[in-house]
Amino acid sequence: MEKKYYITTYGCQLNVHESEKLAGVLKQRGFLPATKLEDADVIVFNTCAIREGAEDRVFGNVGALKKLKKEHKDKIIAVCGCMTQQKAKAEKLYKIFPFIDIIFGTSNIYKFEDFLDKKTKRLLAYDEAFNLEGEKMPFYRTSGENAWVNIMQGCNNFCTYCIVPYVRGRERSRPSEDIINEVENAVKEGYKLITLLGQNVNSYGKDCGEISFSQLLKKVAEINGDFKIAFMTSHPKDLTSDVIDVIASNDKFLKEIHLPVQSGSNKILERMNRKYTVEKYLSIIDEIKSKIPNVRITTDIIVGFPGESEQDFEETCNLVKKVKYDGIFAFMYSVREGTVAEKMDGQISFDVKNRRVNKILELEKEIKKEKANGNN
Ligand code: SAH
Ligand code: SF4
Ligand code: F3S
Repeated sequence: MEKKYYITTYGCQLNVHESEKLAGVLKQRGFLPATKLEDADVIVFNTCAIREGAEDRVFGNVGALKKLKKEHKDKIIAVCGCMTQQKAKAEKLYKIFPFIDIIFGTSNIYKFEDFLDKKTKRLLAYDEAFNLEGEKMPFYRTSGENAWVNIMQGCNNFCTYCIVPYVRGRERSRPSEDIINEVENAVKEGYKLITLLGQNVNSYGKDCGEISFSQLLKKVAEINGDFKIAFMTSHPKDLTSDVIDVIASNDKFLKEIHLPVQSGSNKILERMNRKYTVEKYLSIIDEIKSKIPNVRITTDIIVGFPGESEQDFEETCNLVKKVKYDGIFAFMYSVREGTVAEKMDGQISFDVKNRRVNKILELEKEIKKEKANGNN
């Protein structure tokens, strides 16, 4: 009988695409996707560390496999991703769940094949150094008409609340030639949407003297075929006019921009180390709206960052009302171990965060209603 695999993915599109790579390796070895976790011979959890809730879910869901593994000792259980790129978390999982066979991180995902061939009984593989080896992995696309294409890995920004720079390493851009080849292949295979991925796509090329992000966008748009292009995520501090111009000038680009603002208070933006002001952010929004008619603008907002007063929060609400976003991902601030904000004064209670997040969701609904009634 054919062997099967089941992958549970947490977190962002980056992880979704990395699960496609794990699936690529498994497929190459003759495995088929299982429709139920219980039917799988290899069970993988690709984890996220962005907020406490994401990590709690992993502990809960992996913990629930104890019985299954007891009854089927030959099943292989692997846990990988951003959570296990933190050494202490990897060690904790290894210790409290003796039925996990393989633990590895984001830096050594490219060794997945070797890990499957491991000769030891259990394996905790932790590597500190990051590279671009993962880009050489095979992949099995699982996102319908959309093909995810990494353009870069890592992040240099160290927003004070964020774990990503610690679990994904510094920025590493892929050679543009590799990206173009991958897009050409995806288009030939019939994918209708190409989504270019990176934690901060606007700084593409800066680490290796390659072409800029806007030049890359142009090259991708020059590829022949019937397809659209999207990208994520843009950091406002690096979103320049040349990028806006390229998107405005070519029909291949979805007229959608996700531009995480995080807060509408300059005091909080500074404490977050976001490196832009509300005024600067609003000027970019104005430029986008004036150059790209009917553009959809979406954002991420964190409420309850340490030191966020009622007035700071009020300023975030005002910004939301001004921009009239087409979609908002609002999060309650979650303390991440090892980040600068972990040690900041003025941590906010759950109740206050909860009230503020609900207020943002309410505003989002009101804006939607207003727009549906034809007021823009
Ligand atoms: N690289 C992207 C975002 C990646 S994380 C960017 O800079 O825009 C996705 C979102 O998760 C962030 O935009 C932020 O709103 C949220 N986030 C990150 N760390 C968080 C934390 N510690 N608590 C709550 N939300 C967080
Ligand atoms: Fe995190 Fe900031 Fe990097 Fe985005 S830009 S991944 S929020 S550190
Ligand atoms: Fe989570 Fe890692 Fe993405 S922490 S949000 S899966 S980069």
